[in-house]
Amino acid sequence: MTSTEQAPGPGAGTAHPEHLGHVIFIAASAAMGGFLFGYDSSVINGAVEAIRSRYGIGSAELAQVIAIALIGCAVGAATAGRIADRIGRIRCMQIAATLFAASAIGSALPFALWDLAFWRIVGGFAIGMASVIGPAYIAEVSPPAYRGRLGSFQQAAIVVGIATSQLINWGLLHAAGGDQRGELLGLEAWQVMLGVMVVPAVLYGLLSFVIPESPRFLLSVGRRERAREILAEVEGKGVDLDARVAEIEHAMKREHKSTFKDLLGNSFLFKRIVWIGIGLSAFQQFVGINVAFYYSATLWQSVGINPTDSFLYSFTTSIINIIGTVIAMIFVDRIGRRPLALIGSSGMVVGLALEAWAFSHPLVDGKLPATQGLVALVAAHLFVLFFALSWGVVVWVLLGEMFPNKIRAAALGVAASAQWIANWMITVSFPSLADWNLSGTYLIYTFFAALSIPFVLKFVKETKGKALEEMG
Ligand code: GLC
Repeated sequence: MTSTEQAPGPGAGTAHPEHLGHVIFIAASAAMGGFLFGYDSSVINGAVEAIRSRYGIGSAELAQVIAIALIGCAVGAATAGRIADRIGRIRCMQIAATLFAASAIGSALPFALWDLAFWRIVGGFAIGMASVIGPAYIAEVSPPAYRGRLGSFQQAAIVVGIATSQLINWGLLHAAGGDQRGELLGLEAWQVMLGVMVVPAVLYGLLSFVIPESPRFLLSVGRRERAREILAEVEGKGVDLDARVAEIEHAMKREHKSTFKDLLGNSFLFKRIVWIGIGLSAFQQFVGINVAFYYSATLWQSVGINPTDSFLYSFTTSIINIIGTVIAMIFVDRIGRRPLALIGSSGMVVGLALEAWAFSHPLVDGKLPATQGLVALVAAHLFVLFFALSWGVVVWVLLGEMFPNKIRAAALGVAASAQWIANWMITVSFPSLADWNLSGTYLIYTFFAALSIPFVLKFVKETKGKALEEMG
């Protein structure tokens, strides 16, 4: 492990191995929210054709029904920080788990299109909450030397969630004879796809009763003894508990529960650190990562892969996403967040620029010429690999840890909300941009990947090994 390879900041605890196992369990349980985030945001891909045919709607209306969930995500993220500051991180997870379960059942058994859209918004709201509470909670219960690695459980869970939904969708589709509306368990296959989510939702809810509340939240509401017990549980025997409690309390002195106003600087603008969080979120989305996941069929078909095999290729992308995430987990506490982000941005520029080049060639019968097709395929996977080993993990880790205690949950809420809005912008604009010029579209994403390099160099501070109390 890396605890000996870095100099933890003052007060930074180093966990005993036996505690580390326990903290891993705690972080993994909280990351179930990330699994649901990944699963829920990608499961809909397997159901779109069925929804279109069942409700007789056109592409534009369908895109709205799908994208509307992202607006729910933005609202959920914006609200979660405040809920978490008021009633605690654990209760916030319980609310999210309940909403996930309700949305799974509601969207599996809709009685009208608007009812389906309503439950997708509810699910989106839960995803938004999970996207805030996971990173914030994990950062708050992790010993500093392992915080990056434990924080990356969230992204690992997201990518496993995406891969799982692809596998389950494929399995169910297969069982239903290849028809999204084929009969399965007395329902149509797509309804089962959406309903299956109730299983991880219930598990997430149950696990949230087992894991402890964040010691930093407990101290913020004056529950000192309980906070001390939990610090002992997560940071281990070697740590001077009185000193840790005093350190956290000192950092929170004169603090009150954060409100929206605390995020503002002198004027009505956000504080600089909040803007940096918003910037990280925007760049993470503006490189077009979710185009690779939500619209993969466009790519596969243009390189000559037939639609029935496209599942297999999307799953390959997910495997690469998982491999990249594991690489990031190994390095995030060793080489730090900034170098990883910079390596990732550089790799993404290359992958995206190659895609732009490949698509600058005219399609023949809807396909790229052989060489360009191969380049596009390799470049797309290179892009996903570099995203996964950098911005995928680093942004969620940084958003969990970079804000001072006082504003953490609320600031993370704003930054995550900005991320969902950015995700929505990319998702709804891609079809029209692709009709305009696919190569130009990739050039836009290349531009953002390139711009992320000076952004990191100028604005992002390294947080590796520092105590949360040293942030800000
Ligand atoms: C990150 C992004 C998310 C994306 C995922 C892909 O979690 O925030 O939008 O779908 O990575 O792995």
